[in-house]
Amino acid sequence: MNVFLETYGCQMNISDSEVIRSVLSNAGYTLVPVIDQAQVVLINTCAIRENAHRKIYGRLDTLRPLRKKMQQEKGHFVVGLLGCMAQNLKETILKHPVVNMVVGPDNYRALPELIAKVSETDTNKNLQVIDADLSEYETYQGIDPNRFDGVNAWVVIMRGCDNFCTFCVVPYTRGRERSRALDDILGEVHALVLQGFQQVTLLGQNVNSYQANGISFADLILEVANVPGIERVRFTSPHPKDFPEPLLEAIAIHPNICKHIHLPLQSGSDRILELMNRTYTKNEFIQLTQKIRQIIPNISITTDIIVGFPTETEADQQETIDLIKTVEFDSAYIFKYSERKGTIASKKYPDDVPPEVKTRRIVALFDLQHEISLNKNQAKIGSTINVMVEGETDKRPGFQMGKSDGNMTVIFPSTPHLPGELIPLEIKNATTATLLGQTLTIPVLTQT
Ligand code: SAH
Ligand code: SF4
Ligand code: F3S
Repeated sequence: MNVFLETYGCQMNISDSEVIRSVLSNAGYTLVPVIDQAQVVLINTCAIRENAHRKIYGRLDTLRPLRKKMQQEKGHFVVGLLGCMAQNLKETILKHPVVNMVVGPDNYRALPELIAKVSETDTNKNLQVIDADLSEYETYQGIDPNRFDGVNAWVVIMRGCDNFCTFCVVPYTRGRERSRALDDILGEVHALVLQGFQQVTLLGQNVNSYQANGISFADLILEVANVPGIERVRFTSPHPKDFPEPLLEAIAIHPNICKHIHLPLQSGSDRILELMNRTYTKNEFIQLTQKIRQIIPNISITTDIIVGFPTETEADQQETIDLIKTVEFDSAYIFKYSERKGTIASKKYPDDVPPEVKTRRIVALFDLQHEISLNKNQAKIGSTINVMVEGETDKRPGFQMGKSDGNMTVIFPSTPHLPGELIPLEIKNATTATLLGQTLTIPVLTQT
């Protein structure tokens, strides 16, 4: 049977889709690139904000005509909703007329069996299946993810989240924290080198809370960076509470560990941080960024911020503005608070900041961060930075693109260099999100 798989959401979902592809192809299913060739459509979903849900509902609506046509022609058609929205909504989303299978993020090993069950059934019986039980152990150990080609391989080192930030749905959709054994991870990384990957990104909902048999995240990242053939190691997404000095020192001393830390702030107001259950204060956060910059000079620090959390006042917003000015993040993802059903915030704090106030606040933060990012990027003009080539860019014909150590996108006139090669580039120009580079003109030494 042919399967079409579509992925929404974060890197963890991209990585999960690689596991799904592997599970299905091992069971004899064929993954197809075009939806019209498929008897099975799987949608791996995200639930983080309401617009993630909205996007999926819109997508399901577009599948109505296809379901009708396939049912008439073939008698059966499977539309499976997977991922965080499936886990979150369970039976409710199974009522959607297009969906006849719902599978949560810990249940992908069962997919071949579940698909067989729904598709063998006469459509008149309209059988539906659901498997959305969270596991305390599932890490998909033993499944070799079916990765797409490229320079980067995602390597899941832990799953789940125990932090319960009051706004966040992830602890409910991904369940409890669990880490993979060091040897299993290293085995995977060695294999990735043989497959030709130059970079690995260690993944986890709280990647730096990794803990397995006394091995900490600092121990693990050094071991991974020491695997011969691995040129770059990145990690995402960490929590500010787990940055002990040994971890900062590991990042500082190992040339292969990228000098980039994503440090989600969420708010600059102590009152709001407390309501969010973020477990740090504004000053602790500022001190952490100072310590990071002291131990790892030239580190790039990026962040996530939420505006309009319940009860947020203009004074709270001003504190976030002040903190952004103090820390000067290299870039920031800024979101409007979106109430998620089942979360602590949804039960305790009414979503009382009006939409137009959220919009005004997000625009103010966007403008401020743009200015900071632009200044920081323009300061790089004239310097030389190492860029890992990723390939041709669609945005500008005749140009290649790559990533700096600090995870900035750099575009440059095409060279003969292949994806995965590290090359020095001189920065010629900069916008808020992109650097423009040029290969160095090396003086030709002639013998006289
Ligand atoms: N584990 C990661 C977060 C993953 S979610 C971490 O702790 O950093 C990515 C970002 O989405 C969060 O950092 C937060 O800024 C944002 N987010 C999460 N829930 C949200 C909500 N209910 N409304 C708006 N933004 C939210
Ligand atoms: Fe969500 Fe907080 Fe866990 Fe991040 S740490 S996934 S924001 S609950
Ligand atoms: Fe979305 Fe789930 Fe990732 S809610 S952000 S796909 S962990």
